[in-house]
Amino acid sequence: MSKAIENLQAKIKQAKLGGGQVRIDKQHEKKKLTARERIDYFLDEGSFEEMGMLVTHRTTDFNMDKQQFYGDGVVTGYGAVDGRLVYVYAQDFTVFGGALSETHAEKICKIMDKAVQVGAPIIGLNDSGGARIQEGVRSLGGYADIFYRNVQASGVIPQISAIMGPCAGGAVYSPAMTDFTIMVQDTSYMFVTGPNVVKTVTNEEVSSEELGGASAHSTKSGVTHFTAQNDIDCLMQIKKLLSYMPQNNQEKPEDIEIQLDEEYREQLEHIVPENANKPYDMHEVIKGIIDEDSFFEVHKNYADNILVGFSRIGGKSVGIIANQPMSLAGVLDVDASKKAARFVRFCDAFNIPLLVLVDVPGFLPGTDQEWSGIILHGAKLLYALSEATVPRVTVITRKAYGGAYDVMNSKHIGADLNFAWPTAEIAVMGAKGASEIIFRKEIASAENPTEKLLEKEAEYAETFANPYKAAQRGFIDEVILPKDTRRKLIKAFTMLKNKDVLRPKRKHGNIPL
Ligand code: COA
Repeated sequence: MSKAIENLQAKIKQAKLGGGQVRIDKQHEKKKLTARERIDYFLDEGSFEEMGMLVTHRTTDFNMDKQQFYGDGVVTGYGAVDGRLVYVYAQDFTVFGGALSETHAEKICKIMDKAVQVGAPIIGLNDSGGARIQEGVRSLGGYADIFYRNVQASGVIPQISAIMGPCAGGAVYSPAMTDFTIMVQDTSYMFVTGPNVVKTVTNEEVSSEELGGASAHSTKSGVTHFTAQNDIDCLMQIKKLLSYMPQNNQEKPEDIEIQLDEEYREQLEHIVPENANKPYDMHEVIKGIIDEDSFFEVHKNYADNILVGFSRIGGKSVGIIANQPMSLAGVLDVDASKKAARFVRFCDAFNIPLLVLVDVPGFLPGTDQEWSGIILHGAKLLYALSEATVPRVTVITRKAYGGAYDVMNSKHIGADLNFAWPTAEIAVMGAKGASEIIFRKEIASAENPTEKLLEKEAEYAETFANPYKAAQRGFIDEVILPKDTRRKLIKAFTMLKNKDVLRPKRKHGNIPL
C-alpha cells in the first residue's frame, strides 16, 4: 500500500472516531447513539456518501488550533431512505459537544444548498451544546446562515428536524422553521434559555426536562410534532413520515399499489350516536375510511380537539384534518386552529390532497380564548384552507355550526367535493341555543315555558338540524351513507388527481400571524 493511501486511510479512521472512544462511551452511557451510528441506522444500507469529512475549524483563540477534530462536530452528506434520495446532517456531540462553529455551519449550509438545487428532503439530527463559545459571533453568523436557508427552502423541499440531545439558545430556531420536529424522550431538550437563566430572571425553579423536554413540547407548547422513545424509534418515525411526502414541491407523493377489496365499511354506520350531545372517537371514522393502519398522526398530544395526520386512501397520500368530539366536543380553539392551519399549509406546499372531517359545535367561547386572539388564530385556519389549491374534500359527520362550518373546508372557501352523512346538522347553532334566541318572547309568554322551549327546539331541529337545506343549495354535493364514504373518497381523489388552480400573481399573501 502506498504511503499516500495509508495516510488517507489513517485520516478516515481518525475522522470516524469523532471526539474519541472515551466520549463515544459517554454518549452510549446516556443511551444515545453517535452521529455516525444514527446515520447508519437511518439510511439504506451502504447508501451514505459523506461530504466534508476532513473539514476542521479555523479558530486560533483560546488555543483552539491545538484542538482539531476532523469533521468539526457534524457529519454531513447524502444517501437514500427506501431508495429515495435524502440529505442528512448529524451533529456529533463527541466533538466540542456538537457545538456549532463557522465551519460546522458551512458544512450544513453546503448540503442544504444542494438539497434545494437537486430537490430532495433534508433531515437534521440535532445534538449540540449550541454556539461554539470559543468562536463568538462567527458561530452566531453560522446559525443565521442556516436560518436564512431554512426559510429559502421552506415549501420547496421537506425539512425535518430530530432533536436527539441538547438544543438551546439560537439552535432552536432552525428546527422551529423546518416542517416537522421530533424529540427523543428523556435525552433531548429545547429551550431559548436554560434553567439557570430562568432562575436568575424569573426566580422560577425548573428542570431542563420540565422546561423543554419532549413531554413539555409535545403537550404544552406544540413545538414538537412527534416524540420518540429512543434514538431508533426517532429515526424509524422520520422514515415513515417521509413515505407520505414527495421529494419536493414540483412532485406529487408516490401512490402505493393496493388491493381495493374493502371499499364498503359497514362499521362506519354505527359510530355517530343517536344523541347529538354524546361524544365518539373520530379516530374510528378515520380508521373506517383509510387504507389499513395508514394513519400517521401529527401533534398527537397537543390540542387533541382536532386531529391531523397523514394517511393513505386507495394508495394515495392524503392529509387529514378532523374535529375530535371526544375532546372539548371538537370545538375550535386557539391551539387547534394553529395546529390545523400549519398542517394544511405543509400539505398544500407539497401537493398532498386534503380530507376534512367535520363535527364542530363552533369556536370555544370565553375571555381566555378572546384575549388569546382566537379571532386571529381561527383566521389562520380559514386562510390556510382558502389558499390551498390541492384537491380538497370534506365529509360532515355531524355538527357543522356557525362560522366553524365556513372554516372547516366549506364549499364557499374552495373545497372541491363536500359530502355529508345523514346525521349531519348544518346550522348557525344548535337547536336549543337557536330557539332560546329567536323564540324568546314566545317562550316567555307561554303558559309552560319549558314545554314551549322543547317544542320550538324540535321545530328548529326539524328544519335545520340536517344536511338537506345545505344540499338543496348545492353547498353539499351529496348526502352519502357512512359505509360508502371510503368508496366515494377513493373516486373523489382519483377524479381530482390532476386539479390545477391558477392564482393571480402576488409576492405573498398576508396570513394573520
Ligand atoms: N461551545 C464549545 N464547547 C462546548 C459547548 C459550546 N457551546 N457546549 C459543550 N461544549 C463542550 C464541553 O466543553 C465538553 O468538552 P470536552 O468533551 O472537551 O470536555 C463537551 O462539549 C461536552 O460538554 P459537557 O458539558 O461535558 O456535556 P454535558 O452533557 O454535561 O452538558 C450541555 C451538555 C449542553 C448542557 C453543556 O455542555 C452546556 O451547558 N453547554 C453550553 C450551552 C450554551 O450555553 N451554549 C451557548 C449558547 S447557544
